[in-house]
Amino acid sequence: MKYTLFLSCINGFEHNCIRDLERVGIRKYNKYDGGIEFEGYLEDIYKMNQTSRYGMHLYWEIARLPFDKDNLYKDMYNINWNKYFNIIHSFSVKVKSKRRHINEQYTALVIKDAIVDYFNKKYNKRPNVDRKTPDIPIYMYVDGGELKLYIDTTGDPLYKRGYRTDFIHQAPLNEVLAANLIASIDYKDKNLYDPMCGSGTLLIEAAMKDLNIPSQACRKDFVFKNWFNYDSELYKKIRTKLKNEVKTDCIDIYGSDNDDNCIEMLKGSIKKLGIEEKFTLRNRNIFDFIPKENSVIIFNPPYDIRISINKNLDEYYAKLSEKLKNQCKNCTIHIFTINNEYLDSIDIPCIYSKQIRNANLECVLNTYQT
Ligand SMILES: C[S@@+](CC[C@H](N)C(=O)[O-])C[C@H]1O[C@@H](n2cnc3c(N)ncnc32)[C@H](O)[C@@H]1O
Repeated sequence: MKYTLFLSCINGFEHNCIRDLERVGIRKYNKYDGGIEFEGYLEDIYKMNQTSRYGMHLYWEIARLPFDKDNLYKDMYNINWNKYFNIIHSFSVKVKSKRRHINEQYTALVIKDAIVDYFNKKYNKRPNVDRKTPDIPIYMYVDGGELKLYIDTTGDPLYKRGYRTDFIHQAPLNEVLAANLIASIDYKDKNLYDPMCGSGTLLIEAAMKDLNIPSQACRKDFVFKNWFNYDSELYKKIRTKLKNEVKTDCIDIYGSDNDDNCIEMLKGSIKKLGIEEKFTLRNRNIFDFIPKENSVIIFNPPYDIRISINKNLDEYYAKLSEKLKNQCKNCTIHIFTINNEYLDSIDIPCIYSKQIRNANLECVLNTYQT
């Protein structure tokens, strides 16, 4: 059976999702703002979920209809839900609309009622609603006069890679965002440094990419495992094949932070992934940071929101700039941070700048060359 699928992503990184598709051999797709639509088989659903570095959710489109508010209940009731799940499953409904006058919560309730009534009529029993960990998450997207109804094949978003330890950094980068940032920089055959590595998300994502480790190597839960047609043998076969494709050689990776706890978190994650020997880690203040010549450096300094730097940001960036300029010889430096005027205090030629929205913050990835 062929499925119409949609890999959603952070706006502006659709081109990276295409890499995800190509990696599993999918060449035909339609690019939209916020994701890529394509067709695939059950096998592709498993592969994409297991390997996508740049996507957030993989959705299966089960219906596409004109959006008719007055007939929505009837339209939803008429869907053959039994084909997708049953009263033994829990479900949830989320609605996202580009049309402003549509009340997303109310619309979700209408859909939920239609589904409950459909099953009640058929079996005299209803499936439970579970908003947190549903077996079958249903998602409706309304754009213009059209609605698209999806079943999420993923569950928890794909940034939940499973490599974090029990101790969580106070301001970790979202793993999918970090992977997309890493995909935006060139570090081929160079040493890669993060001198404010925190829990190491950027470096871990770089290592996983370089070593061809599937993004979800440490993750066990996907909601496609709840489906009637879940083929555990096929999924196991895919995982084994991907494991055999992991490479052994990787660039040299250096992480440092002035907080020992961060180094411990990073160590815990790379232990889970079995890639400790690729990393050189140490406690060091960024102001004492001297990388090897001709290296690539990437870091995201504290935003002064979740982690305070106890300093005037102007002064802080000026001092950082002076240190980087003097201590990083012939290096490419990528700084990801909130888009702020203090970045102007960095007195190193900026050769590239990309605006990025991180949750509700306007951020920027600036590239400097010393
Ligand atoms: C925004 S966090 C980085 C988060 C990281 N990218 C991650 O995903 O976990 C900034 C980090 O800079 C570190 N830091 C702050 N001041 C520092 C300094 N002077 N030298 C080195 N590290 C510093 C903090 O300990 C923190 O872990």
